[in-house]
Amino acid sequence: CGIVAYIGHREAYPIILKGLKRLEYRGYDSAGVALLNNGMKVYKKQGKVADLEETLIGKDLHSNIGIGHTRWATHGEPCDRNAHPHTSKNGKLSMIHNGIIENYAQIKGELIKKGYSFQSDTDTEVLLKFIEDIYVNNEGTLEEAVRIALKRVVGAYVIVLLDEDNPDTLIAARKGSPLVIGIGKGEHFLASDASPIIEYTKEVVYVNDYEVAIIRPDELILKNLGNEKITPFITKLDMELAAIEKGGYDHFMLKEIFEQPHTIFDCLRGRLDASAGTITMSGIQQYAEQLMTANRIIMIACGTSWHAGLVAEYIFEELTRIPVEVEYASEFRYRNPVINKGDVIIAISQSGETADTLVAIESAKEKGAIILGVVNVVGSSIARTSHGGAYTHAGPEIGVASTKAFTAQLAVLTMMALKLGYMKGCISEKRYMHLLNELNDVPEKVATALLQKDAIHEIALKYKDASDALYLGRGYNFPVALEGALKLKEISYIHAEGYPAAEMKHGPIALVDDKLPVFFVATKDSFHEKVLSNMQEIKARKGKVIAVVSEGDDAANQLADDLIVVPYADELIAPIINVIPMQLLAYYIGVAKGLDVDKPRNLAKSVTVE
Ligand code: G6P
Repeated sequence: CGIVAYIGHREAYPIILKGLKRLEYRGYDSAGVALLNNGMKVYKKQGKVADLEETLIGKDLHSNIGIGHTRWATHGEPCDRNAHPHTSKNGKLSMIHNGIIENYAQIKGELIKKGYSFQSDTDTEVLLKFIEDIYVNNEGTLEEAVRIALKRVVGAYVIVLLDEDNPDTLIAARKGSPLVIGIGKGEHFLASDASPIIEYTKEVVYVNDYEVAIIRPDELILKNLGNEKITPFITKLDMELAAIEKGGYDHFMLKEIFEQPHTIFDCLRGRLDASAGTITMSGIQQYAEQLMTANRIIMIACGTSWHAGLVAEYIFEELTRIPVEVEYASEFRYRNPVINKGDVIIAISQSGETADTLVAIESAKEKGAIILGVVNVVGSSIARTSHGGAYTHAGPEIGVASTKAFTAQLAVLTMMALKLGYMKGCISEKRYMHLLNELNDVPEKVATALLQKDAIHEIALKYKDASDALYLGRGYNFPVALEGALKLKEISYIHAEGYPAAEMKHGPIALVDDKLPVFFVATKDSFHEKVLSNMQEIKARKGKVIAVVSEGDDAANQLADDLIVVPYADELIAPIINVIPMQLLAYYIGVAKGLDVDKPRNLAKSVTVE
């Protein structure tokens, strides 16, 4: 979900509406706003922000204060009734919420006994009415009521409340879900991330867990749940407005795919110096000792970031000889994992807000593990919870399906492994220098791979009506096959599976017929001959073979029905380049099917619920 709120001297509605559009990648089942215009006015609508906007054309929406929300359903189906903001029993309070209240059923039961009824199926309405009950009965301030209520709440939340009786104050609070407050002159902007704020101010405060904010046009007060004041820590945003706009591309996803030569360059810049033969990563340097002596590295992530972890597993084990495990955050957290002294955890996350990953690292931290974050969003929860780490510097990623964040994650993780392997003496200077140079060449090779766009577009049109697809690769390219399949599923809704090419004969081969497209990641590496044999096996069963191959690979050329040629790179580095055609394929197939590639159905960019 995404939240936006405004208080100040301007019209709140246009600011909130624009902000919601910027945040729409976080959730788009329904949207709503609450304004104070001769009393509390709440407007909400199932569907996209544009649907809400349309229903409000011509309405008097004047107000200098307001809250807005775009929803990704957790409790209750997407519909007008379940959309936020929710309203209190007396109609004077309205609230937006991002997160999940786990003990809502119990609180709801108590409120029903007190005579409350509920218009929606949401946990949000329960929390609001719980706050209302305390507010009305205690005769204290709303801020007090919020603090008392939150002490009872189990779960994750960002909430913002608007009170008809206090038209110059917003009350907000957070635990687990993100909240950024932008500080203007006589005005404040609240949002789930900085993108709705950036065009108004660069001064922001990241609210921490268990903090309550009391926000007036000229004043921002932060308190903990014990009513003690906390000094707000003001950060300067290092982001330009252009970074969150489409810049002439049809979709954010396409823009982000094409940005990759730059984003990877930005990620390497200042860290990798090929001529000097150095890698500098200050956020990791201080944990060098722990990494050098680590018995095990555990990578924790979800989705595409998990795939980056899988590639990194191969690279770390090869270069550092430290055993690596790659864990789905949600599984790791809830199975009482064994964490020993000397284990280092690397958390990988684009948003830095994924609840599963955040909760997993929090519990590992409690058990004494060192946590290093590989995160894209600066100042995000995972970045702040980690002991150290490295930002990926890919810039804001708006397309829901991750692209440039993935390649930047690979670049960071490869640098980490290279540096560590060299420090540990596990690789020779010659190999170290070779890989350093190979990594340095990646931005240029990615730019070359992108030149294949028209060929990939044609292939996409040829296979867009497939009902299933198989993605195969071996070694470093196996996770690339997984990522290719995930991209296709996310963007085109075609059922796709990624598999190690050799494992294909133990099951998926039964799916092969003359209609099944089989995408091979088959660039030159130590497994190449074996992959070619796997291609033969598909051809023998009349499957369609589409192969990503290295320049000049005639053997693959003869086997494949369709070829996508990319520059050769050392096998450790190749995944960063080989994933580019996978991203473009999914994109063009999604577009050819007329789908909303930037906001695929049911998915959200930043999943802040467990
Ligand atoms: C969501 C997104 C995926 C992403 C995953 C992990 O499911 O739709 O694209 O890979 O979350 O997100 P993170 O921000 O932690 O990398």
